[in-house]
Amino acid sequence: MESVWSDGDAVGYLDQRALPQAIKRERATSVDEIVDAIRTLAVRGAPAIGVFGAYGIALAARLHADDAFAAAAQRIRAARPTAVNLAWAVDRVLACADGDYAAEAARIHAEQRDIDRRIGSAALELFPSRGSILTHCNTGPIATAGAGTALGCIIAAHRAGKRLHVFADETRPLLQGARLTMFELREAGVPATLLVDGAAAIAMERKNIDAVIVGADRIASNGDTANKIGTYGVAIAAAHHGIPFYVAAPRSTFDFSLATGAGIPIEERAPGEVRIAADDDVYNPAFDVTPGRLVTAFITEYGVLRPPYLESVPGLADRPRLLVPEPARA
Ligand code: MRU
Repeated sequence: MESVWSDGDAVGYLDQRALPQAIKRERATSVDEIVDAIRTLAVRGAPAIGVFGAYGIALAARLHADDAFAAAAQRIRAARPTAVNLAWAVDRVLACADGDYAAEAARIHAEQRDIDRRIGSAALELFPSRGSILTHCNTGPIATAGAGTALGCIIAAHRAGKRLHVFADETRPLLQGARLTMFELREAGVPATLLVDGAAAIAMERKNIDAVIVGADRIASNGDTANKIGTYGVAIAAAHHGIPFYVAAPRSTFDFSLATGAGIPIEERAPGEVRIAADDDVYNPAFDVTPGRLVTAFITEYGVLRPPYLESVPGLADRPRLLVPEPARA
């Protein structure tokens, strides 16, 4: 199911807020609508907001010129702060040599599809032929505008004949796991069990979890990984139980300018997402940072990266861009 697409003079998207109850396809026709779709998580997931932001720049360039365009591009780039894919994609479109923003956005999208397929293939060797995998948040096709990262790995392994059962954390407070991951697993025919976030540790103790796999929003040079709030606790529990903890992400999620995760900006969202009683004080970080030492391996389009990350991660920065056929022109 396509989550983002170029739609003539607009940018099309699947409204992820409505899932799984309704499949609503919408069109963003202004910079305000692009920014709003990203901020409200109508379009979410690090690679998907990168692709959407890239198409958004092409739209902004059709609607605005000069200073107004520069301001619009900046607003799109800053719509969400943690996932570096958004800033990366916007910067790449703005830097394209021929100024054909629409073509560069389509190229980023085509590359993401190819990257996801490569990540899925690279992960195959890490899964048992039969077993249980726990995941947190949503990292399937709708989160990447491709085949998905962590969930894409699970779906690829299922299609390759591995008999995997998924334990999906519900992912408070916006329920990406309960609403989106369970939906995508149902669509893909992968057997799955939903659990509240707080049940992840007992599931590891009592449900024979063979591996944990999650996505990422930004990864520092030492492997420190920002991902959906709750991931850090899942990683600690996995380490306690001796269960491998994998992170699947494209190179565009790595921020080679950061030595550690301490510099990753963490988005704090509205108290209303969490609050029950009107007067409650609320701390609502949307992401946390899992220390690189808790990550067993990263799965990227270039293969599996193992520790020491201060050597393997910076090496990724120098790898040449993968060759992907040019996308058809709209
Ligand atoms: O706030 P969200 O739903 O955009 O957070 C998404 C995540 O944390 C995902 O795990 C991450 O972006 C990877 S998506 C392939």
